[in-house]
Amino acid sequence: MTYRVTLIPGDGIGPEITSETVKVLAATGLSFEWDRQFAGMAAIAAVGTPIPEDTLASIRERKLALKGPLTTPVGTGFRSVNVALRKEFELFANLRPARTILPGGRFEGIDIVMVRENLEGLYVGVENFITIAGDQRAVAVSQAIVTRQGCERIIRWAFEFAVRYGRKKVTIVHKANILKMVSGLFLEIGHAIGKEYEGRVESTDLIVDNAAMQLVLKPEQFDVIVTTNLFGDILSDEISGLVGGLGLTPGANIGTEVGIFEAVHGSAPDIAGLGVANPSAQIMAAALMLDHIGEGEHGGRIRQAIHDVIVDDGIRTRDIGGSASTSEFGDAIARRLV
Ligand code: NAI
Ligand code: MG
Repeated sequence: MTYRVTLIPGDGIGPEITSETVKVLAATGLSFEWDRQFAGMAAIAAVGTPIPEDTLASIRERKLALKGPLTTPVGTGFRSVNVALRKEFELFANLRPARTILPGGRFEGIDIVMVRENLEGLYVGVENFITIAGDQRAVAVSQAIVTRQGCERIIRWAFEFAVRYGRKKVTIVHKANILKMVSGLFLEIGHAIGKEYEGRVESTDLIVDNAAMQLVLKPEQFDVIVTTNLFGDILSDEISGLVGGLGLTPGANIGTEVGIFEAVHGSAPDIAGLGVANPSAQIMAAALMLDHIGEGEHGGRIRQAIHDVIVDDGIRTRDIGGSASTSEFGDAIARRLV
């Protein structure tokens, strides 16, 4: 069996970390056929548009993509390519697991899976300015749009994930005390679905600001978290910090048809081209892709290899206190797999 996957190397450190990922996947013994496509700044340079039709067609056909980070200009310029891809393929679930690898001290004992709703809320981009007394930007309005169907499918997905991977508890994170409707609906549906899973998965809820504090004080109380788009965006970066930084947390964007797998971090322009980026997050994203296609055993082997290289071999990139280059690190993982 050969897996046909769209490969988007991406911007900044993207090409460096995705080439290590391809190397590691080859070392698993599985067979892949890669279709290299552009997106983001690299696509603008090559073909003049951030999301070329060829890229979309490739993902549509193959249904699987491994994607490097893409640079999005702040303020002016095109809208986020990442958000556009999520919309195009209706990738409603954003999965971001974080687990302790670095031994000792403040990063110990973390094993949290964030399930973030990926399409709704404030990210729908329904925004406008209101003019008052000639000031065209006197008031800014942004609408958070949350649907019953959207809440149901993400919350159910989180509980199903918990069942499939033997997780004990789902925490529903919300702000229903203030946002009575947009967050109230999410919580109400969360309670109803939680009841269906009674006896199989424990269900609890927490207000988002308290959740942010509890994550720092007592992270071991969390197992699976399910929340709306903006809260999930913010808390998942916080959770990355709990395990030692952005270099160690992968993400998956999953819809009913297509899955796009990427690191949580961005294109890291400050270190691009220097050969020092940590490829772990991108490699772990590939492991999530293997879980997704039913090759979880190989996904697990990759996660174990990353752990062994960092902890037992002591081979680490600069961001986690070592001096290995991106490719030395990738080589070490591949060696552990063959
Ligand atoms: P960033 O995640 O690229 O970098 C933040 C800090 O973490 C930097 O100091 C960087 O050097 C470091 N870092 C990130 N990944 C690393 C790795 N693998 N190894 C070692 N150090 C690493 O975030 P920033 O600077 O806010 O964004 C840069 C660009 O990336 C922006 O254009 C942003 O829009 C884009 N971005 C893209 C994402 C995606 O494609 N999924 C996600 C987040 C940001
Ligand atoms: Mg983010």
